[in-house]
Amino acid sequence: MDRRLAPFIQTSWIRSKKNGVNAFRRGGSVAKEQLKKALKEKSLLIEVSLPLMESLYAIVEGSGFLVILCDETGMLLKVIGDEETIREAEKMSFVEGAVWNERELGTNAIGTAIVEGQPLQVYAHEHYCAACHAWTCSAAPIRGKNGEIIGVLNMSGPFDKVNPHTLGMVVSAVKAIETHLQLLEKSEKNERMKRYLEATTNTLTDGLLIMDQNGRIVKTNGALQKIAGMNEEEMTGKMVISIFKNRIFHDVLGGRAREGDKEIRLHINGREERKHVLLGMHPIAGSIGWLIQFKEIQQVRQFVNAMTGSQAKITFQGIIGRSPAFMTQIQEAKQAAMTDANVLLLGESGTGKDVFAQAIHNAGERRHKPFIAINCGAIPRDLLGSELFGYEEGAFTGARKGGSPGKFELADGGTIFLDEIGEMSLEMQVVLLRVLQTKEVTRIGGHRVLPVNVRIIAATNKKLEEEVRNETFREDLFYRLNVIPIRIPPLRERKEDIPLLARYFAGECSRRIGKQIDSISPAVNEMLCRYEWPGNVRELQNILERSIHKTTGTILDMSTLPDELFHQYTAAPLKPSKTIMTKEEWKKQALLHALSLHENNYSRAAKSLGISRSTLYRQMERFHLK
Ligand SMILES: Nc1ncnc2c1ncn2[C@@H]1O[C@H](COP(=O)(O)OP(=O)(O)O)[C@@H](O)[C@H]1O
Ligand SMILES: [Mg+2]
Repeated sequence: MDRRLAPFIQTSWIRSKKNGVNAFRRGGSVAKEQLKKALKEKSLLIEVSLPLMESLYAIVEGSGFLVILCDETGMLLKVIGDEETIREAEKMSFVEGAVWNERELGTNAIGTAIVEGQPLQVYAHEHYCAACHAWTCSAAPIRGKNGEIIGVLNMSGPFDKVNPHTLGMVVSAVKAIETHLQLLEKSEKNERMKRYLEATTNTLTDGLLIMDQNGRIVKTNGALQKIAGMNEEEMTGKMVISIFKNRIFHDVLGGRAREGDKEIRLHINGREERKHVLLGMHPIAGSIGWLIQFKEIQQVRQFVNAMTGSQAKITFQGIIGRSPAFMTQIQEAKQAAMTDANVLLLGESGTGKDVFAQAIHNAGERRHKPFIAINCGAIPRDLLGSELFGYEEGAFTGARKGGSPGKFELADGGTIFLDEIGEMSLEMQVVLLRVLQTKEVTRIGGHRVLPVNVRIIAATNKKLEEEVRNETFREDLFYRLNVIPIRIPPLRERKEDIPLLARYFAGECSRRIGKQIDSISPAVNEMLCRYEWPGNVRELQNILERSIHKTTGTILDMSTLPDELFHQYTAAPLKPSKTIMTKEEWKKQALLHALSLHENNYSRAAKSLGISRSTLYRQMERFHLK
C-alpha cells in the first residue's frame, strides 16, 4: 500500500521531533499501580466495550490482529488478540498498563488520535518509532456525554493485512460504545430518580395517589397503602373508583372535580369504617392525571399543633423553681391537672403561664390529645371568631373552599389554651360562653352543630375581677373560667428561684450554641437577685442568653451583663437611698461590698466578683480604693 503522508502525520512527526522522541525507543513504560486504578475507574467503559471488542476481533481472528481499549491518557486497559500476536506485541511493550501517548512514543494511532481528537490510521512507516513499522494501527477516540475523550479504541495488525475499512469498523464500534454508555447513564438516572421519588413519597405521612386521565391508579405511597389497608400491587393499575367509593372520585373521572381541598369520610370498597380525611386535589400539568393527597384529620390536628407552635412539650419536671410561694402554685396546678375543670392562670407577663398550661395538659388525662393554644390578644378581633369556631365555605369573601375547622374542633378531646383572655371582645365572650355551656360549636356561616369536648385553660395578666367590675369582662364567663384559679407570683416575689433559673438558662443556652460555661460568678447572681424583673422569667432568660453570647471565657461575669441591670432603683442594703446608679458606680459599690464581705482578702473578693486578682487590683486603682 503506497500513500502520501497525510497532513496529520506530518504535523504529528513535527511534534514528535520537537518533543525529542527517541525514534529507536521500544514501547511505552508499564505502570502497574496506575493500571489497577484505571481498571477500577473505567470499569463501566470496559464492561460496555468488551463485547464490541470481541465482535471486532471475531472478524479478524487468526490474522494477527489486536483489539485494544485505552483510557484517555493512552494507557492500554484491555488487549484482545491471538496469543502469538500478543507475545509479539509484548516485545515492544504494547501491553496492558503501557501508556502509548504521542509525547513519549511519537506518532502512533492511539496517542495521535487523542491529540487530534479524531479517528485515524497510522500505517507502518508512518509510526515515528522504527519498532512499530511492522504494524498498522486504526484508532478512534471514545467520547463521554459532554464530548470529552474518555478512552480510545484501537485495532492493530500486520501492515500488509490492513485496509481503510479497518478504521471504519473501529469507528462504528466506538459509536456503539458511546450510545450504549449514554443509554446506561440515562436509565441509571431514571432508576435513581425513581428511587429518590419512592423514598420521598414514602417518608410523607400524607397518603398520595397518582392516577392517569382514565382514572387508573398509577402510583400510591406507603401512607396511602396504610390508609386503604391494601398493598401496592392491589392498587396499582386498578380503577380508582373500584377502590374508593366517594362521589369525588366519580367527579374526577367525569371532569367535574376541581383543584383544592375537600373534606370527606373516605369510603373504601367493602369496608364499614369511614376515615375522616382531607383530600388535596391537584391536577397534573398537561391534564395527564391527578395527584390526590389524603390527610387524616387526626394528623391534620397534630400538624396544626406543630404549626401553631402550640405543642405541649413542657411537663412539671421542666418547670424550675423551689421557692415556697412558687411551690404552692405548682401544687395547685398539679391538682388541677388531675381534674377536668377549667383553669384560670393569673400572672404578669413572662411569669410562666404558657409553661403552666402545657404542664397541666401533659399531666392530665388528655395528654395524648391535642393541646391548642390561641392568643386572643394577638389575633385581630374580627378573625378571632373564625379562628376559634371555624367557618363554612362561602361564609365570607376569601373563605377557603370547603371551609375550615376552628381551634375548638381541632382541639376536640384535648385542651384549648386561651391566652390573654382579658383581650377578648364582649361579643366574642358571649359566643365563647355559649360554647362552654352547650359544648357545641357551629362554624361561622354554617348550620351544622358539632359537639366538642375540650378542656379550657385560660390565662391573663389583667386583674379580671376589676374588668368584671368595669363591665369589660362578662361576669358569667369569668365564673365559668375561674373554676380553679392559679396565681403565678412575679419573679421579684420569689428571688430564691433566680439563681436556679439563671443556672438552668445558662446551661441550656450554652449547650444550644455550643459554648462551655462552667459557672455564673457570685457577683452576677447577686446582681440578678437585686433586679426587679418587670419582664419576669422571660426577661431573665433573654438577658442571660444575650450575656452568654457575649461571654468569651467559661465563667459568666459582670462584664457581659447589660446596662439596664445597673440602672435601677434598689432597696438593697448596699445602697439605701433610691437613686439610679451608673454601671461605673455600681462596679465601685460591688467592689467595696466584696472587699468588706471578704475582709479585704483580695483573692476571695476577686473570686466572688468573677474577676481575676489582677483585674481587681486594676479596678481598685481606678476607683482609688488602694
Ligand atoms: N419556672 C420556669 N421554669 C423554666 N422556664 C420558665 C419558667 N417560667 C417561665 N419560663 C420560661 O420563660 C419564658 C416565658 O414564660 P411563659 O410561660 O411564656 O410566660 P407567660 O405566658 O406568663 O408570658 C418561656 O420561655 C418559658 O419557657
Ligand atoms: Mg404567654
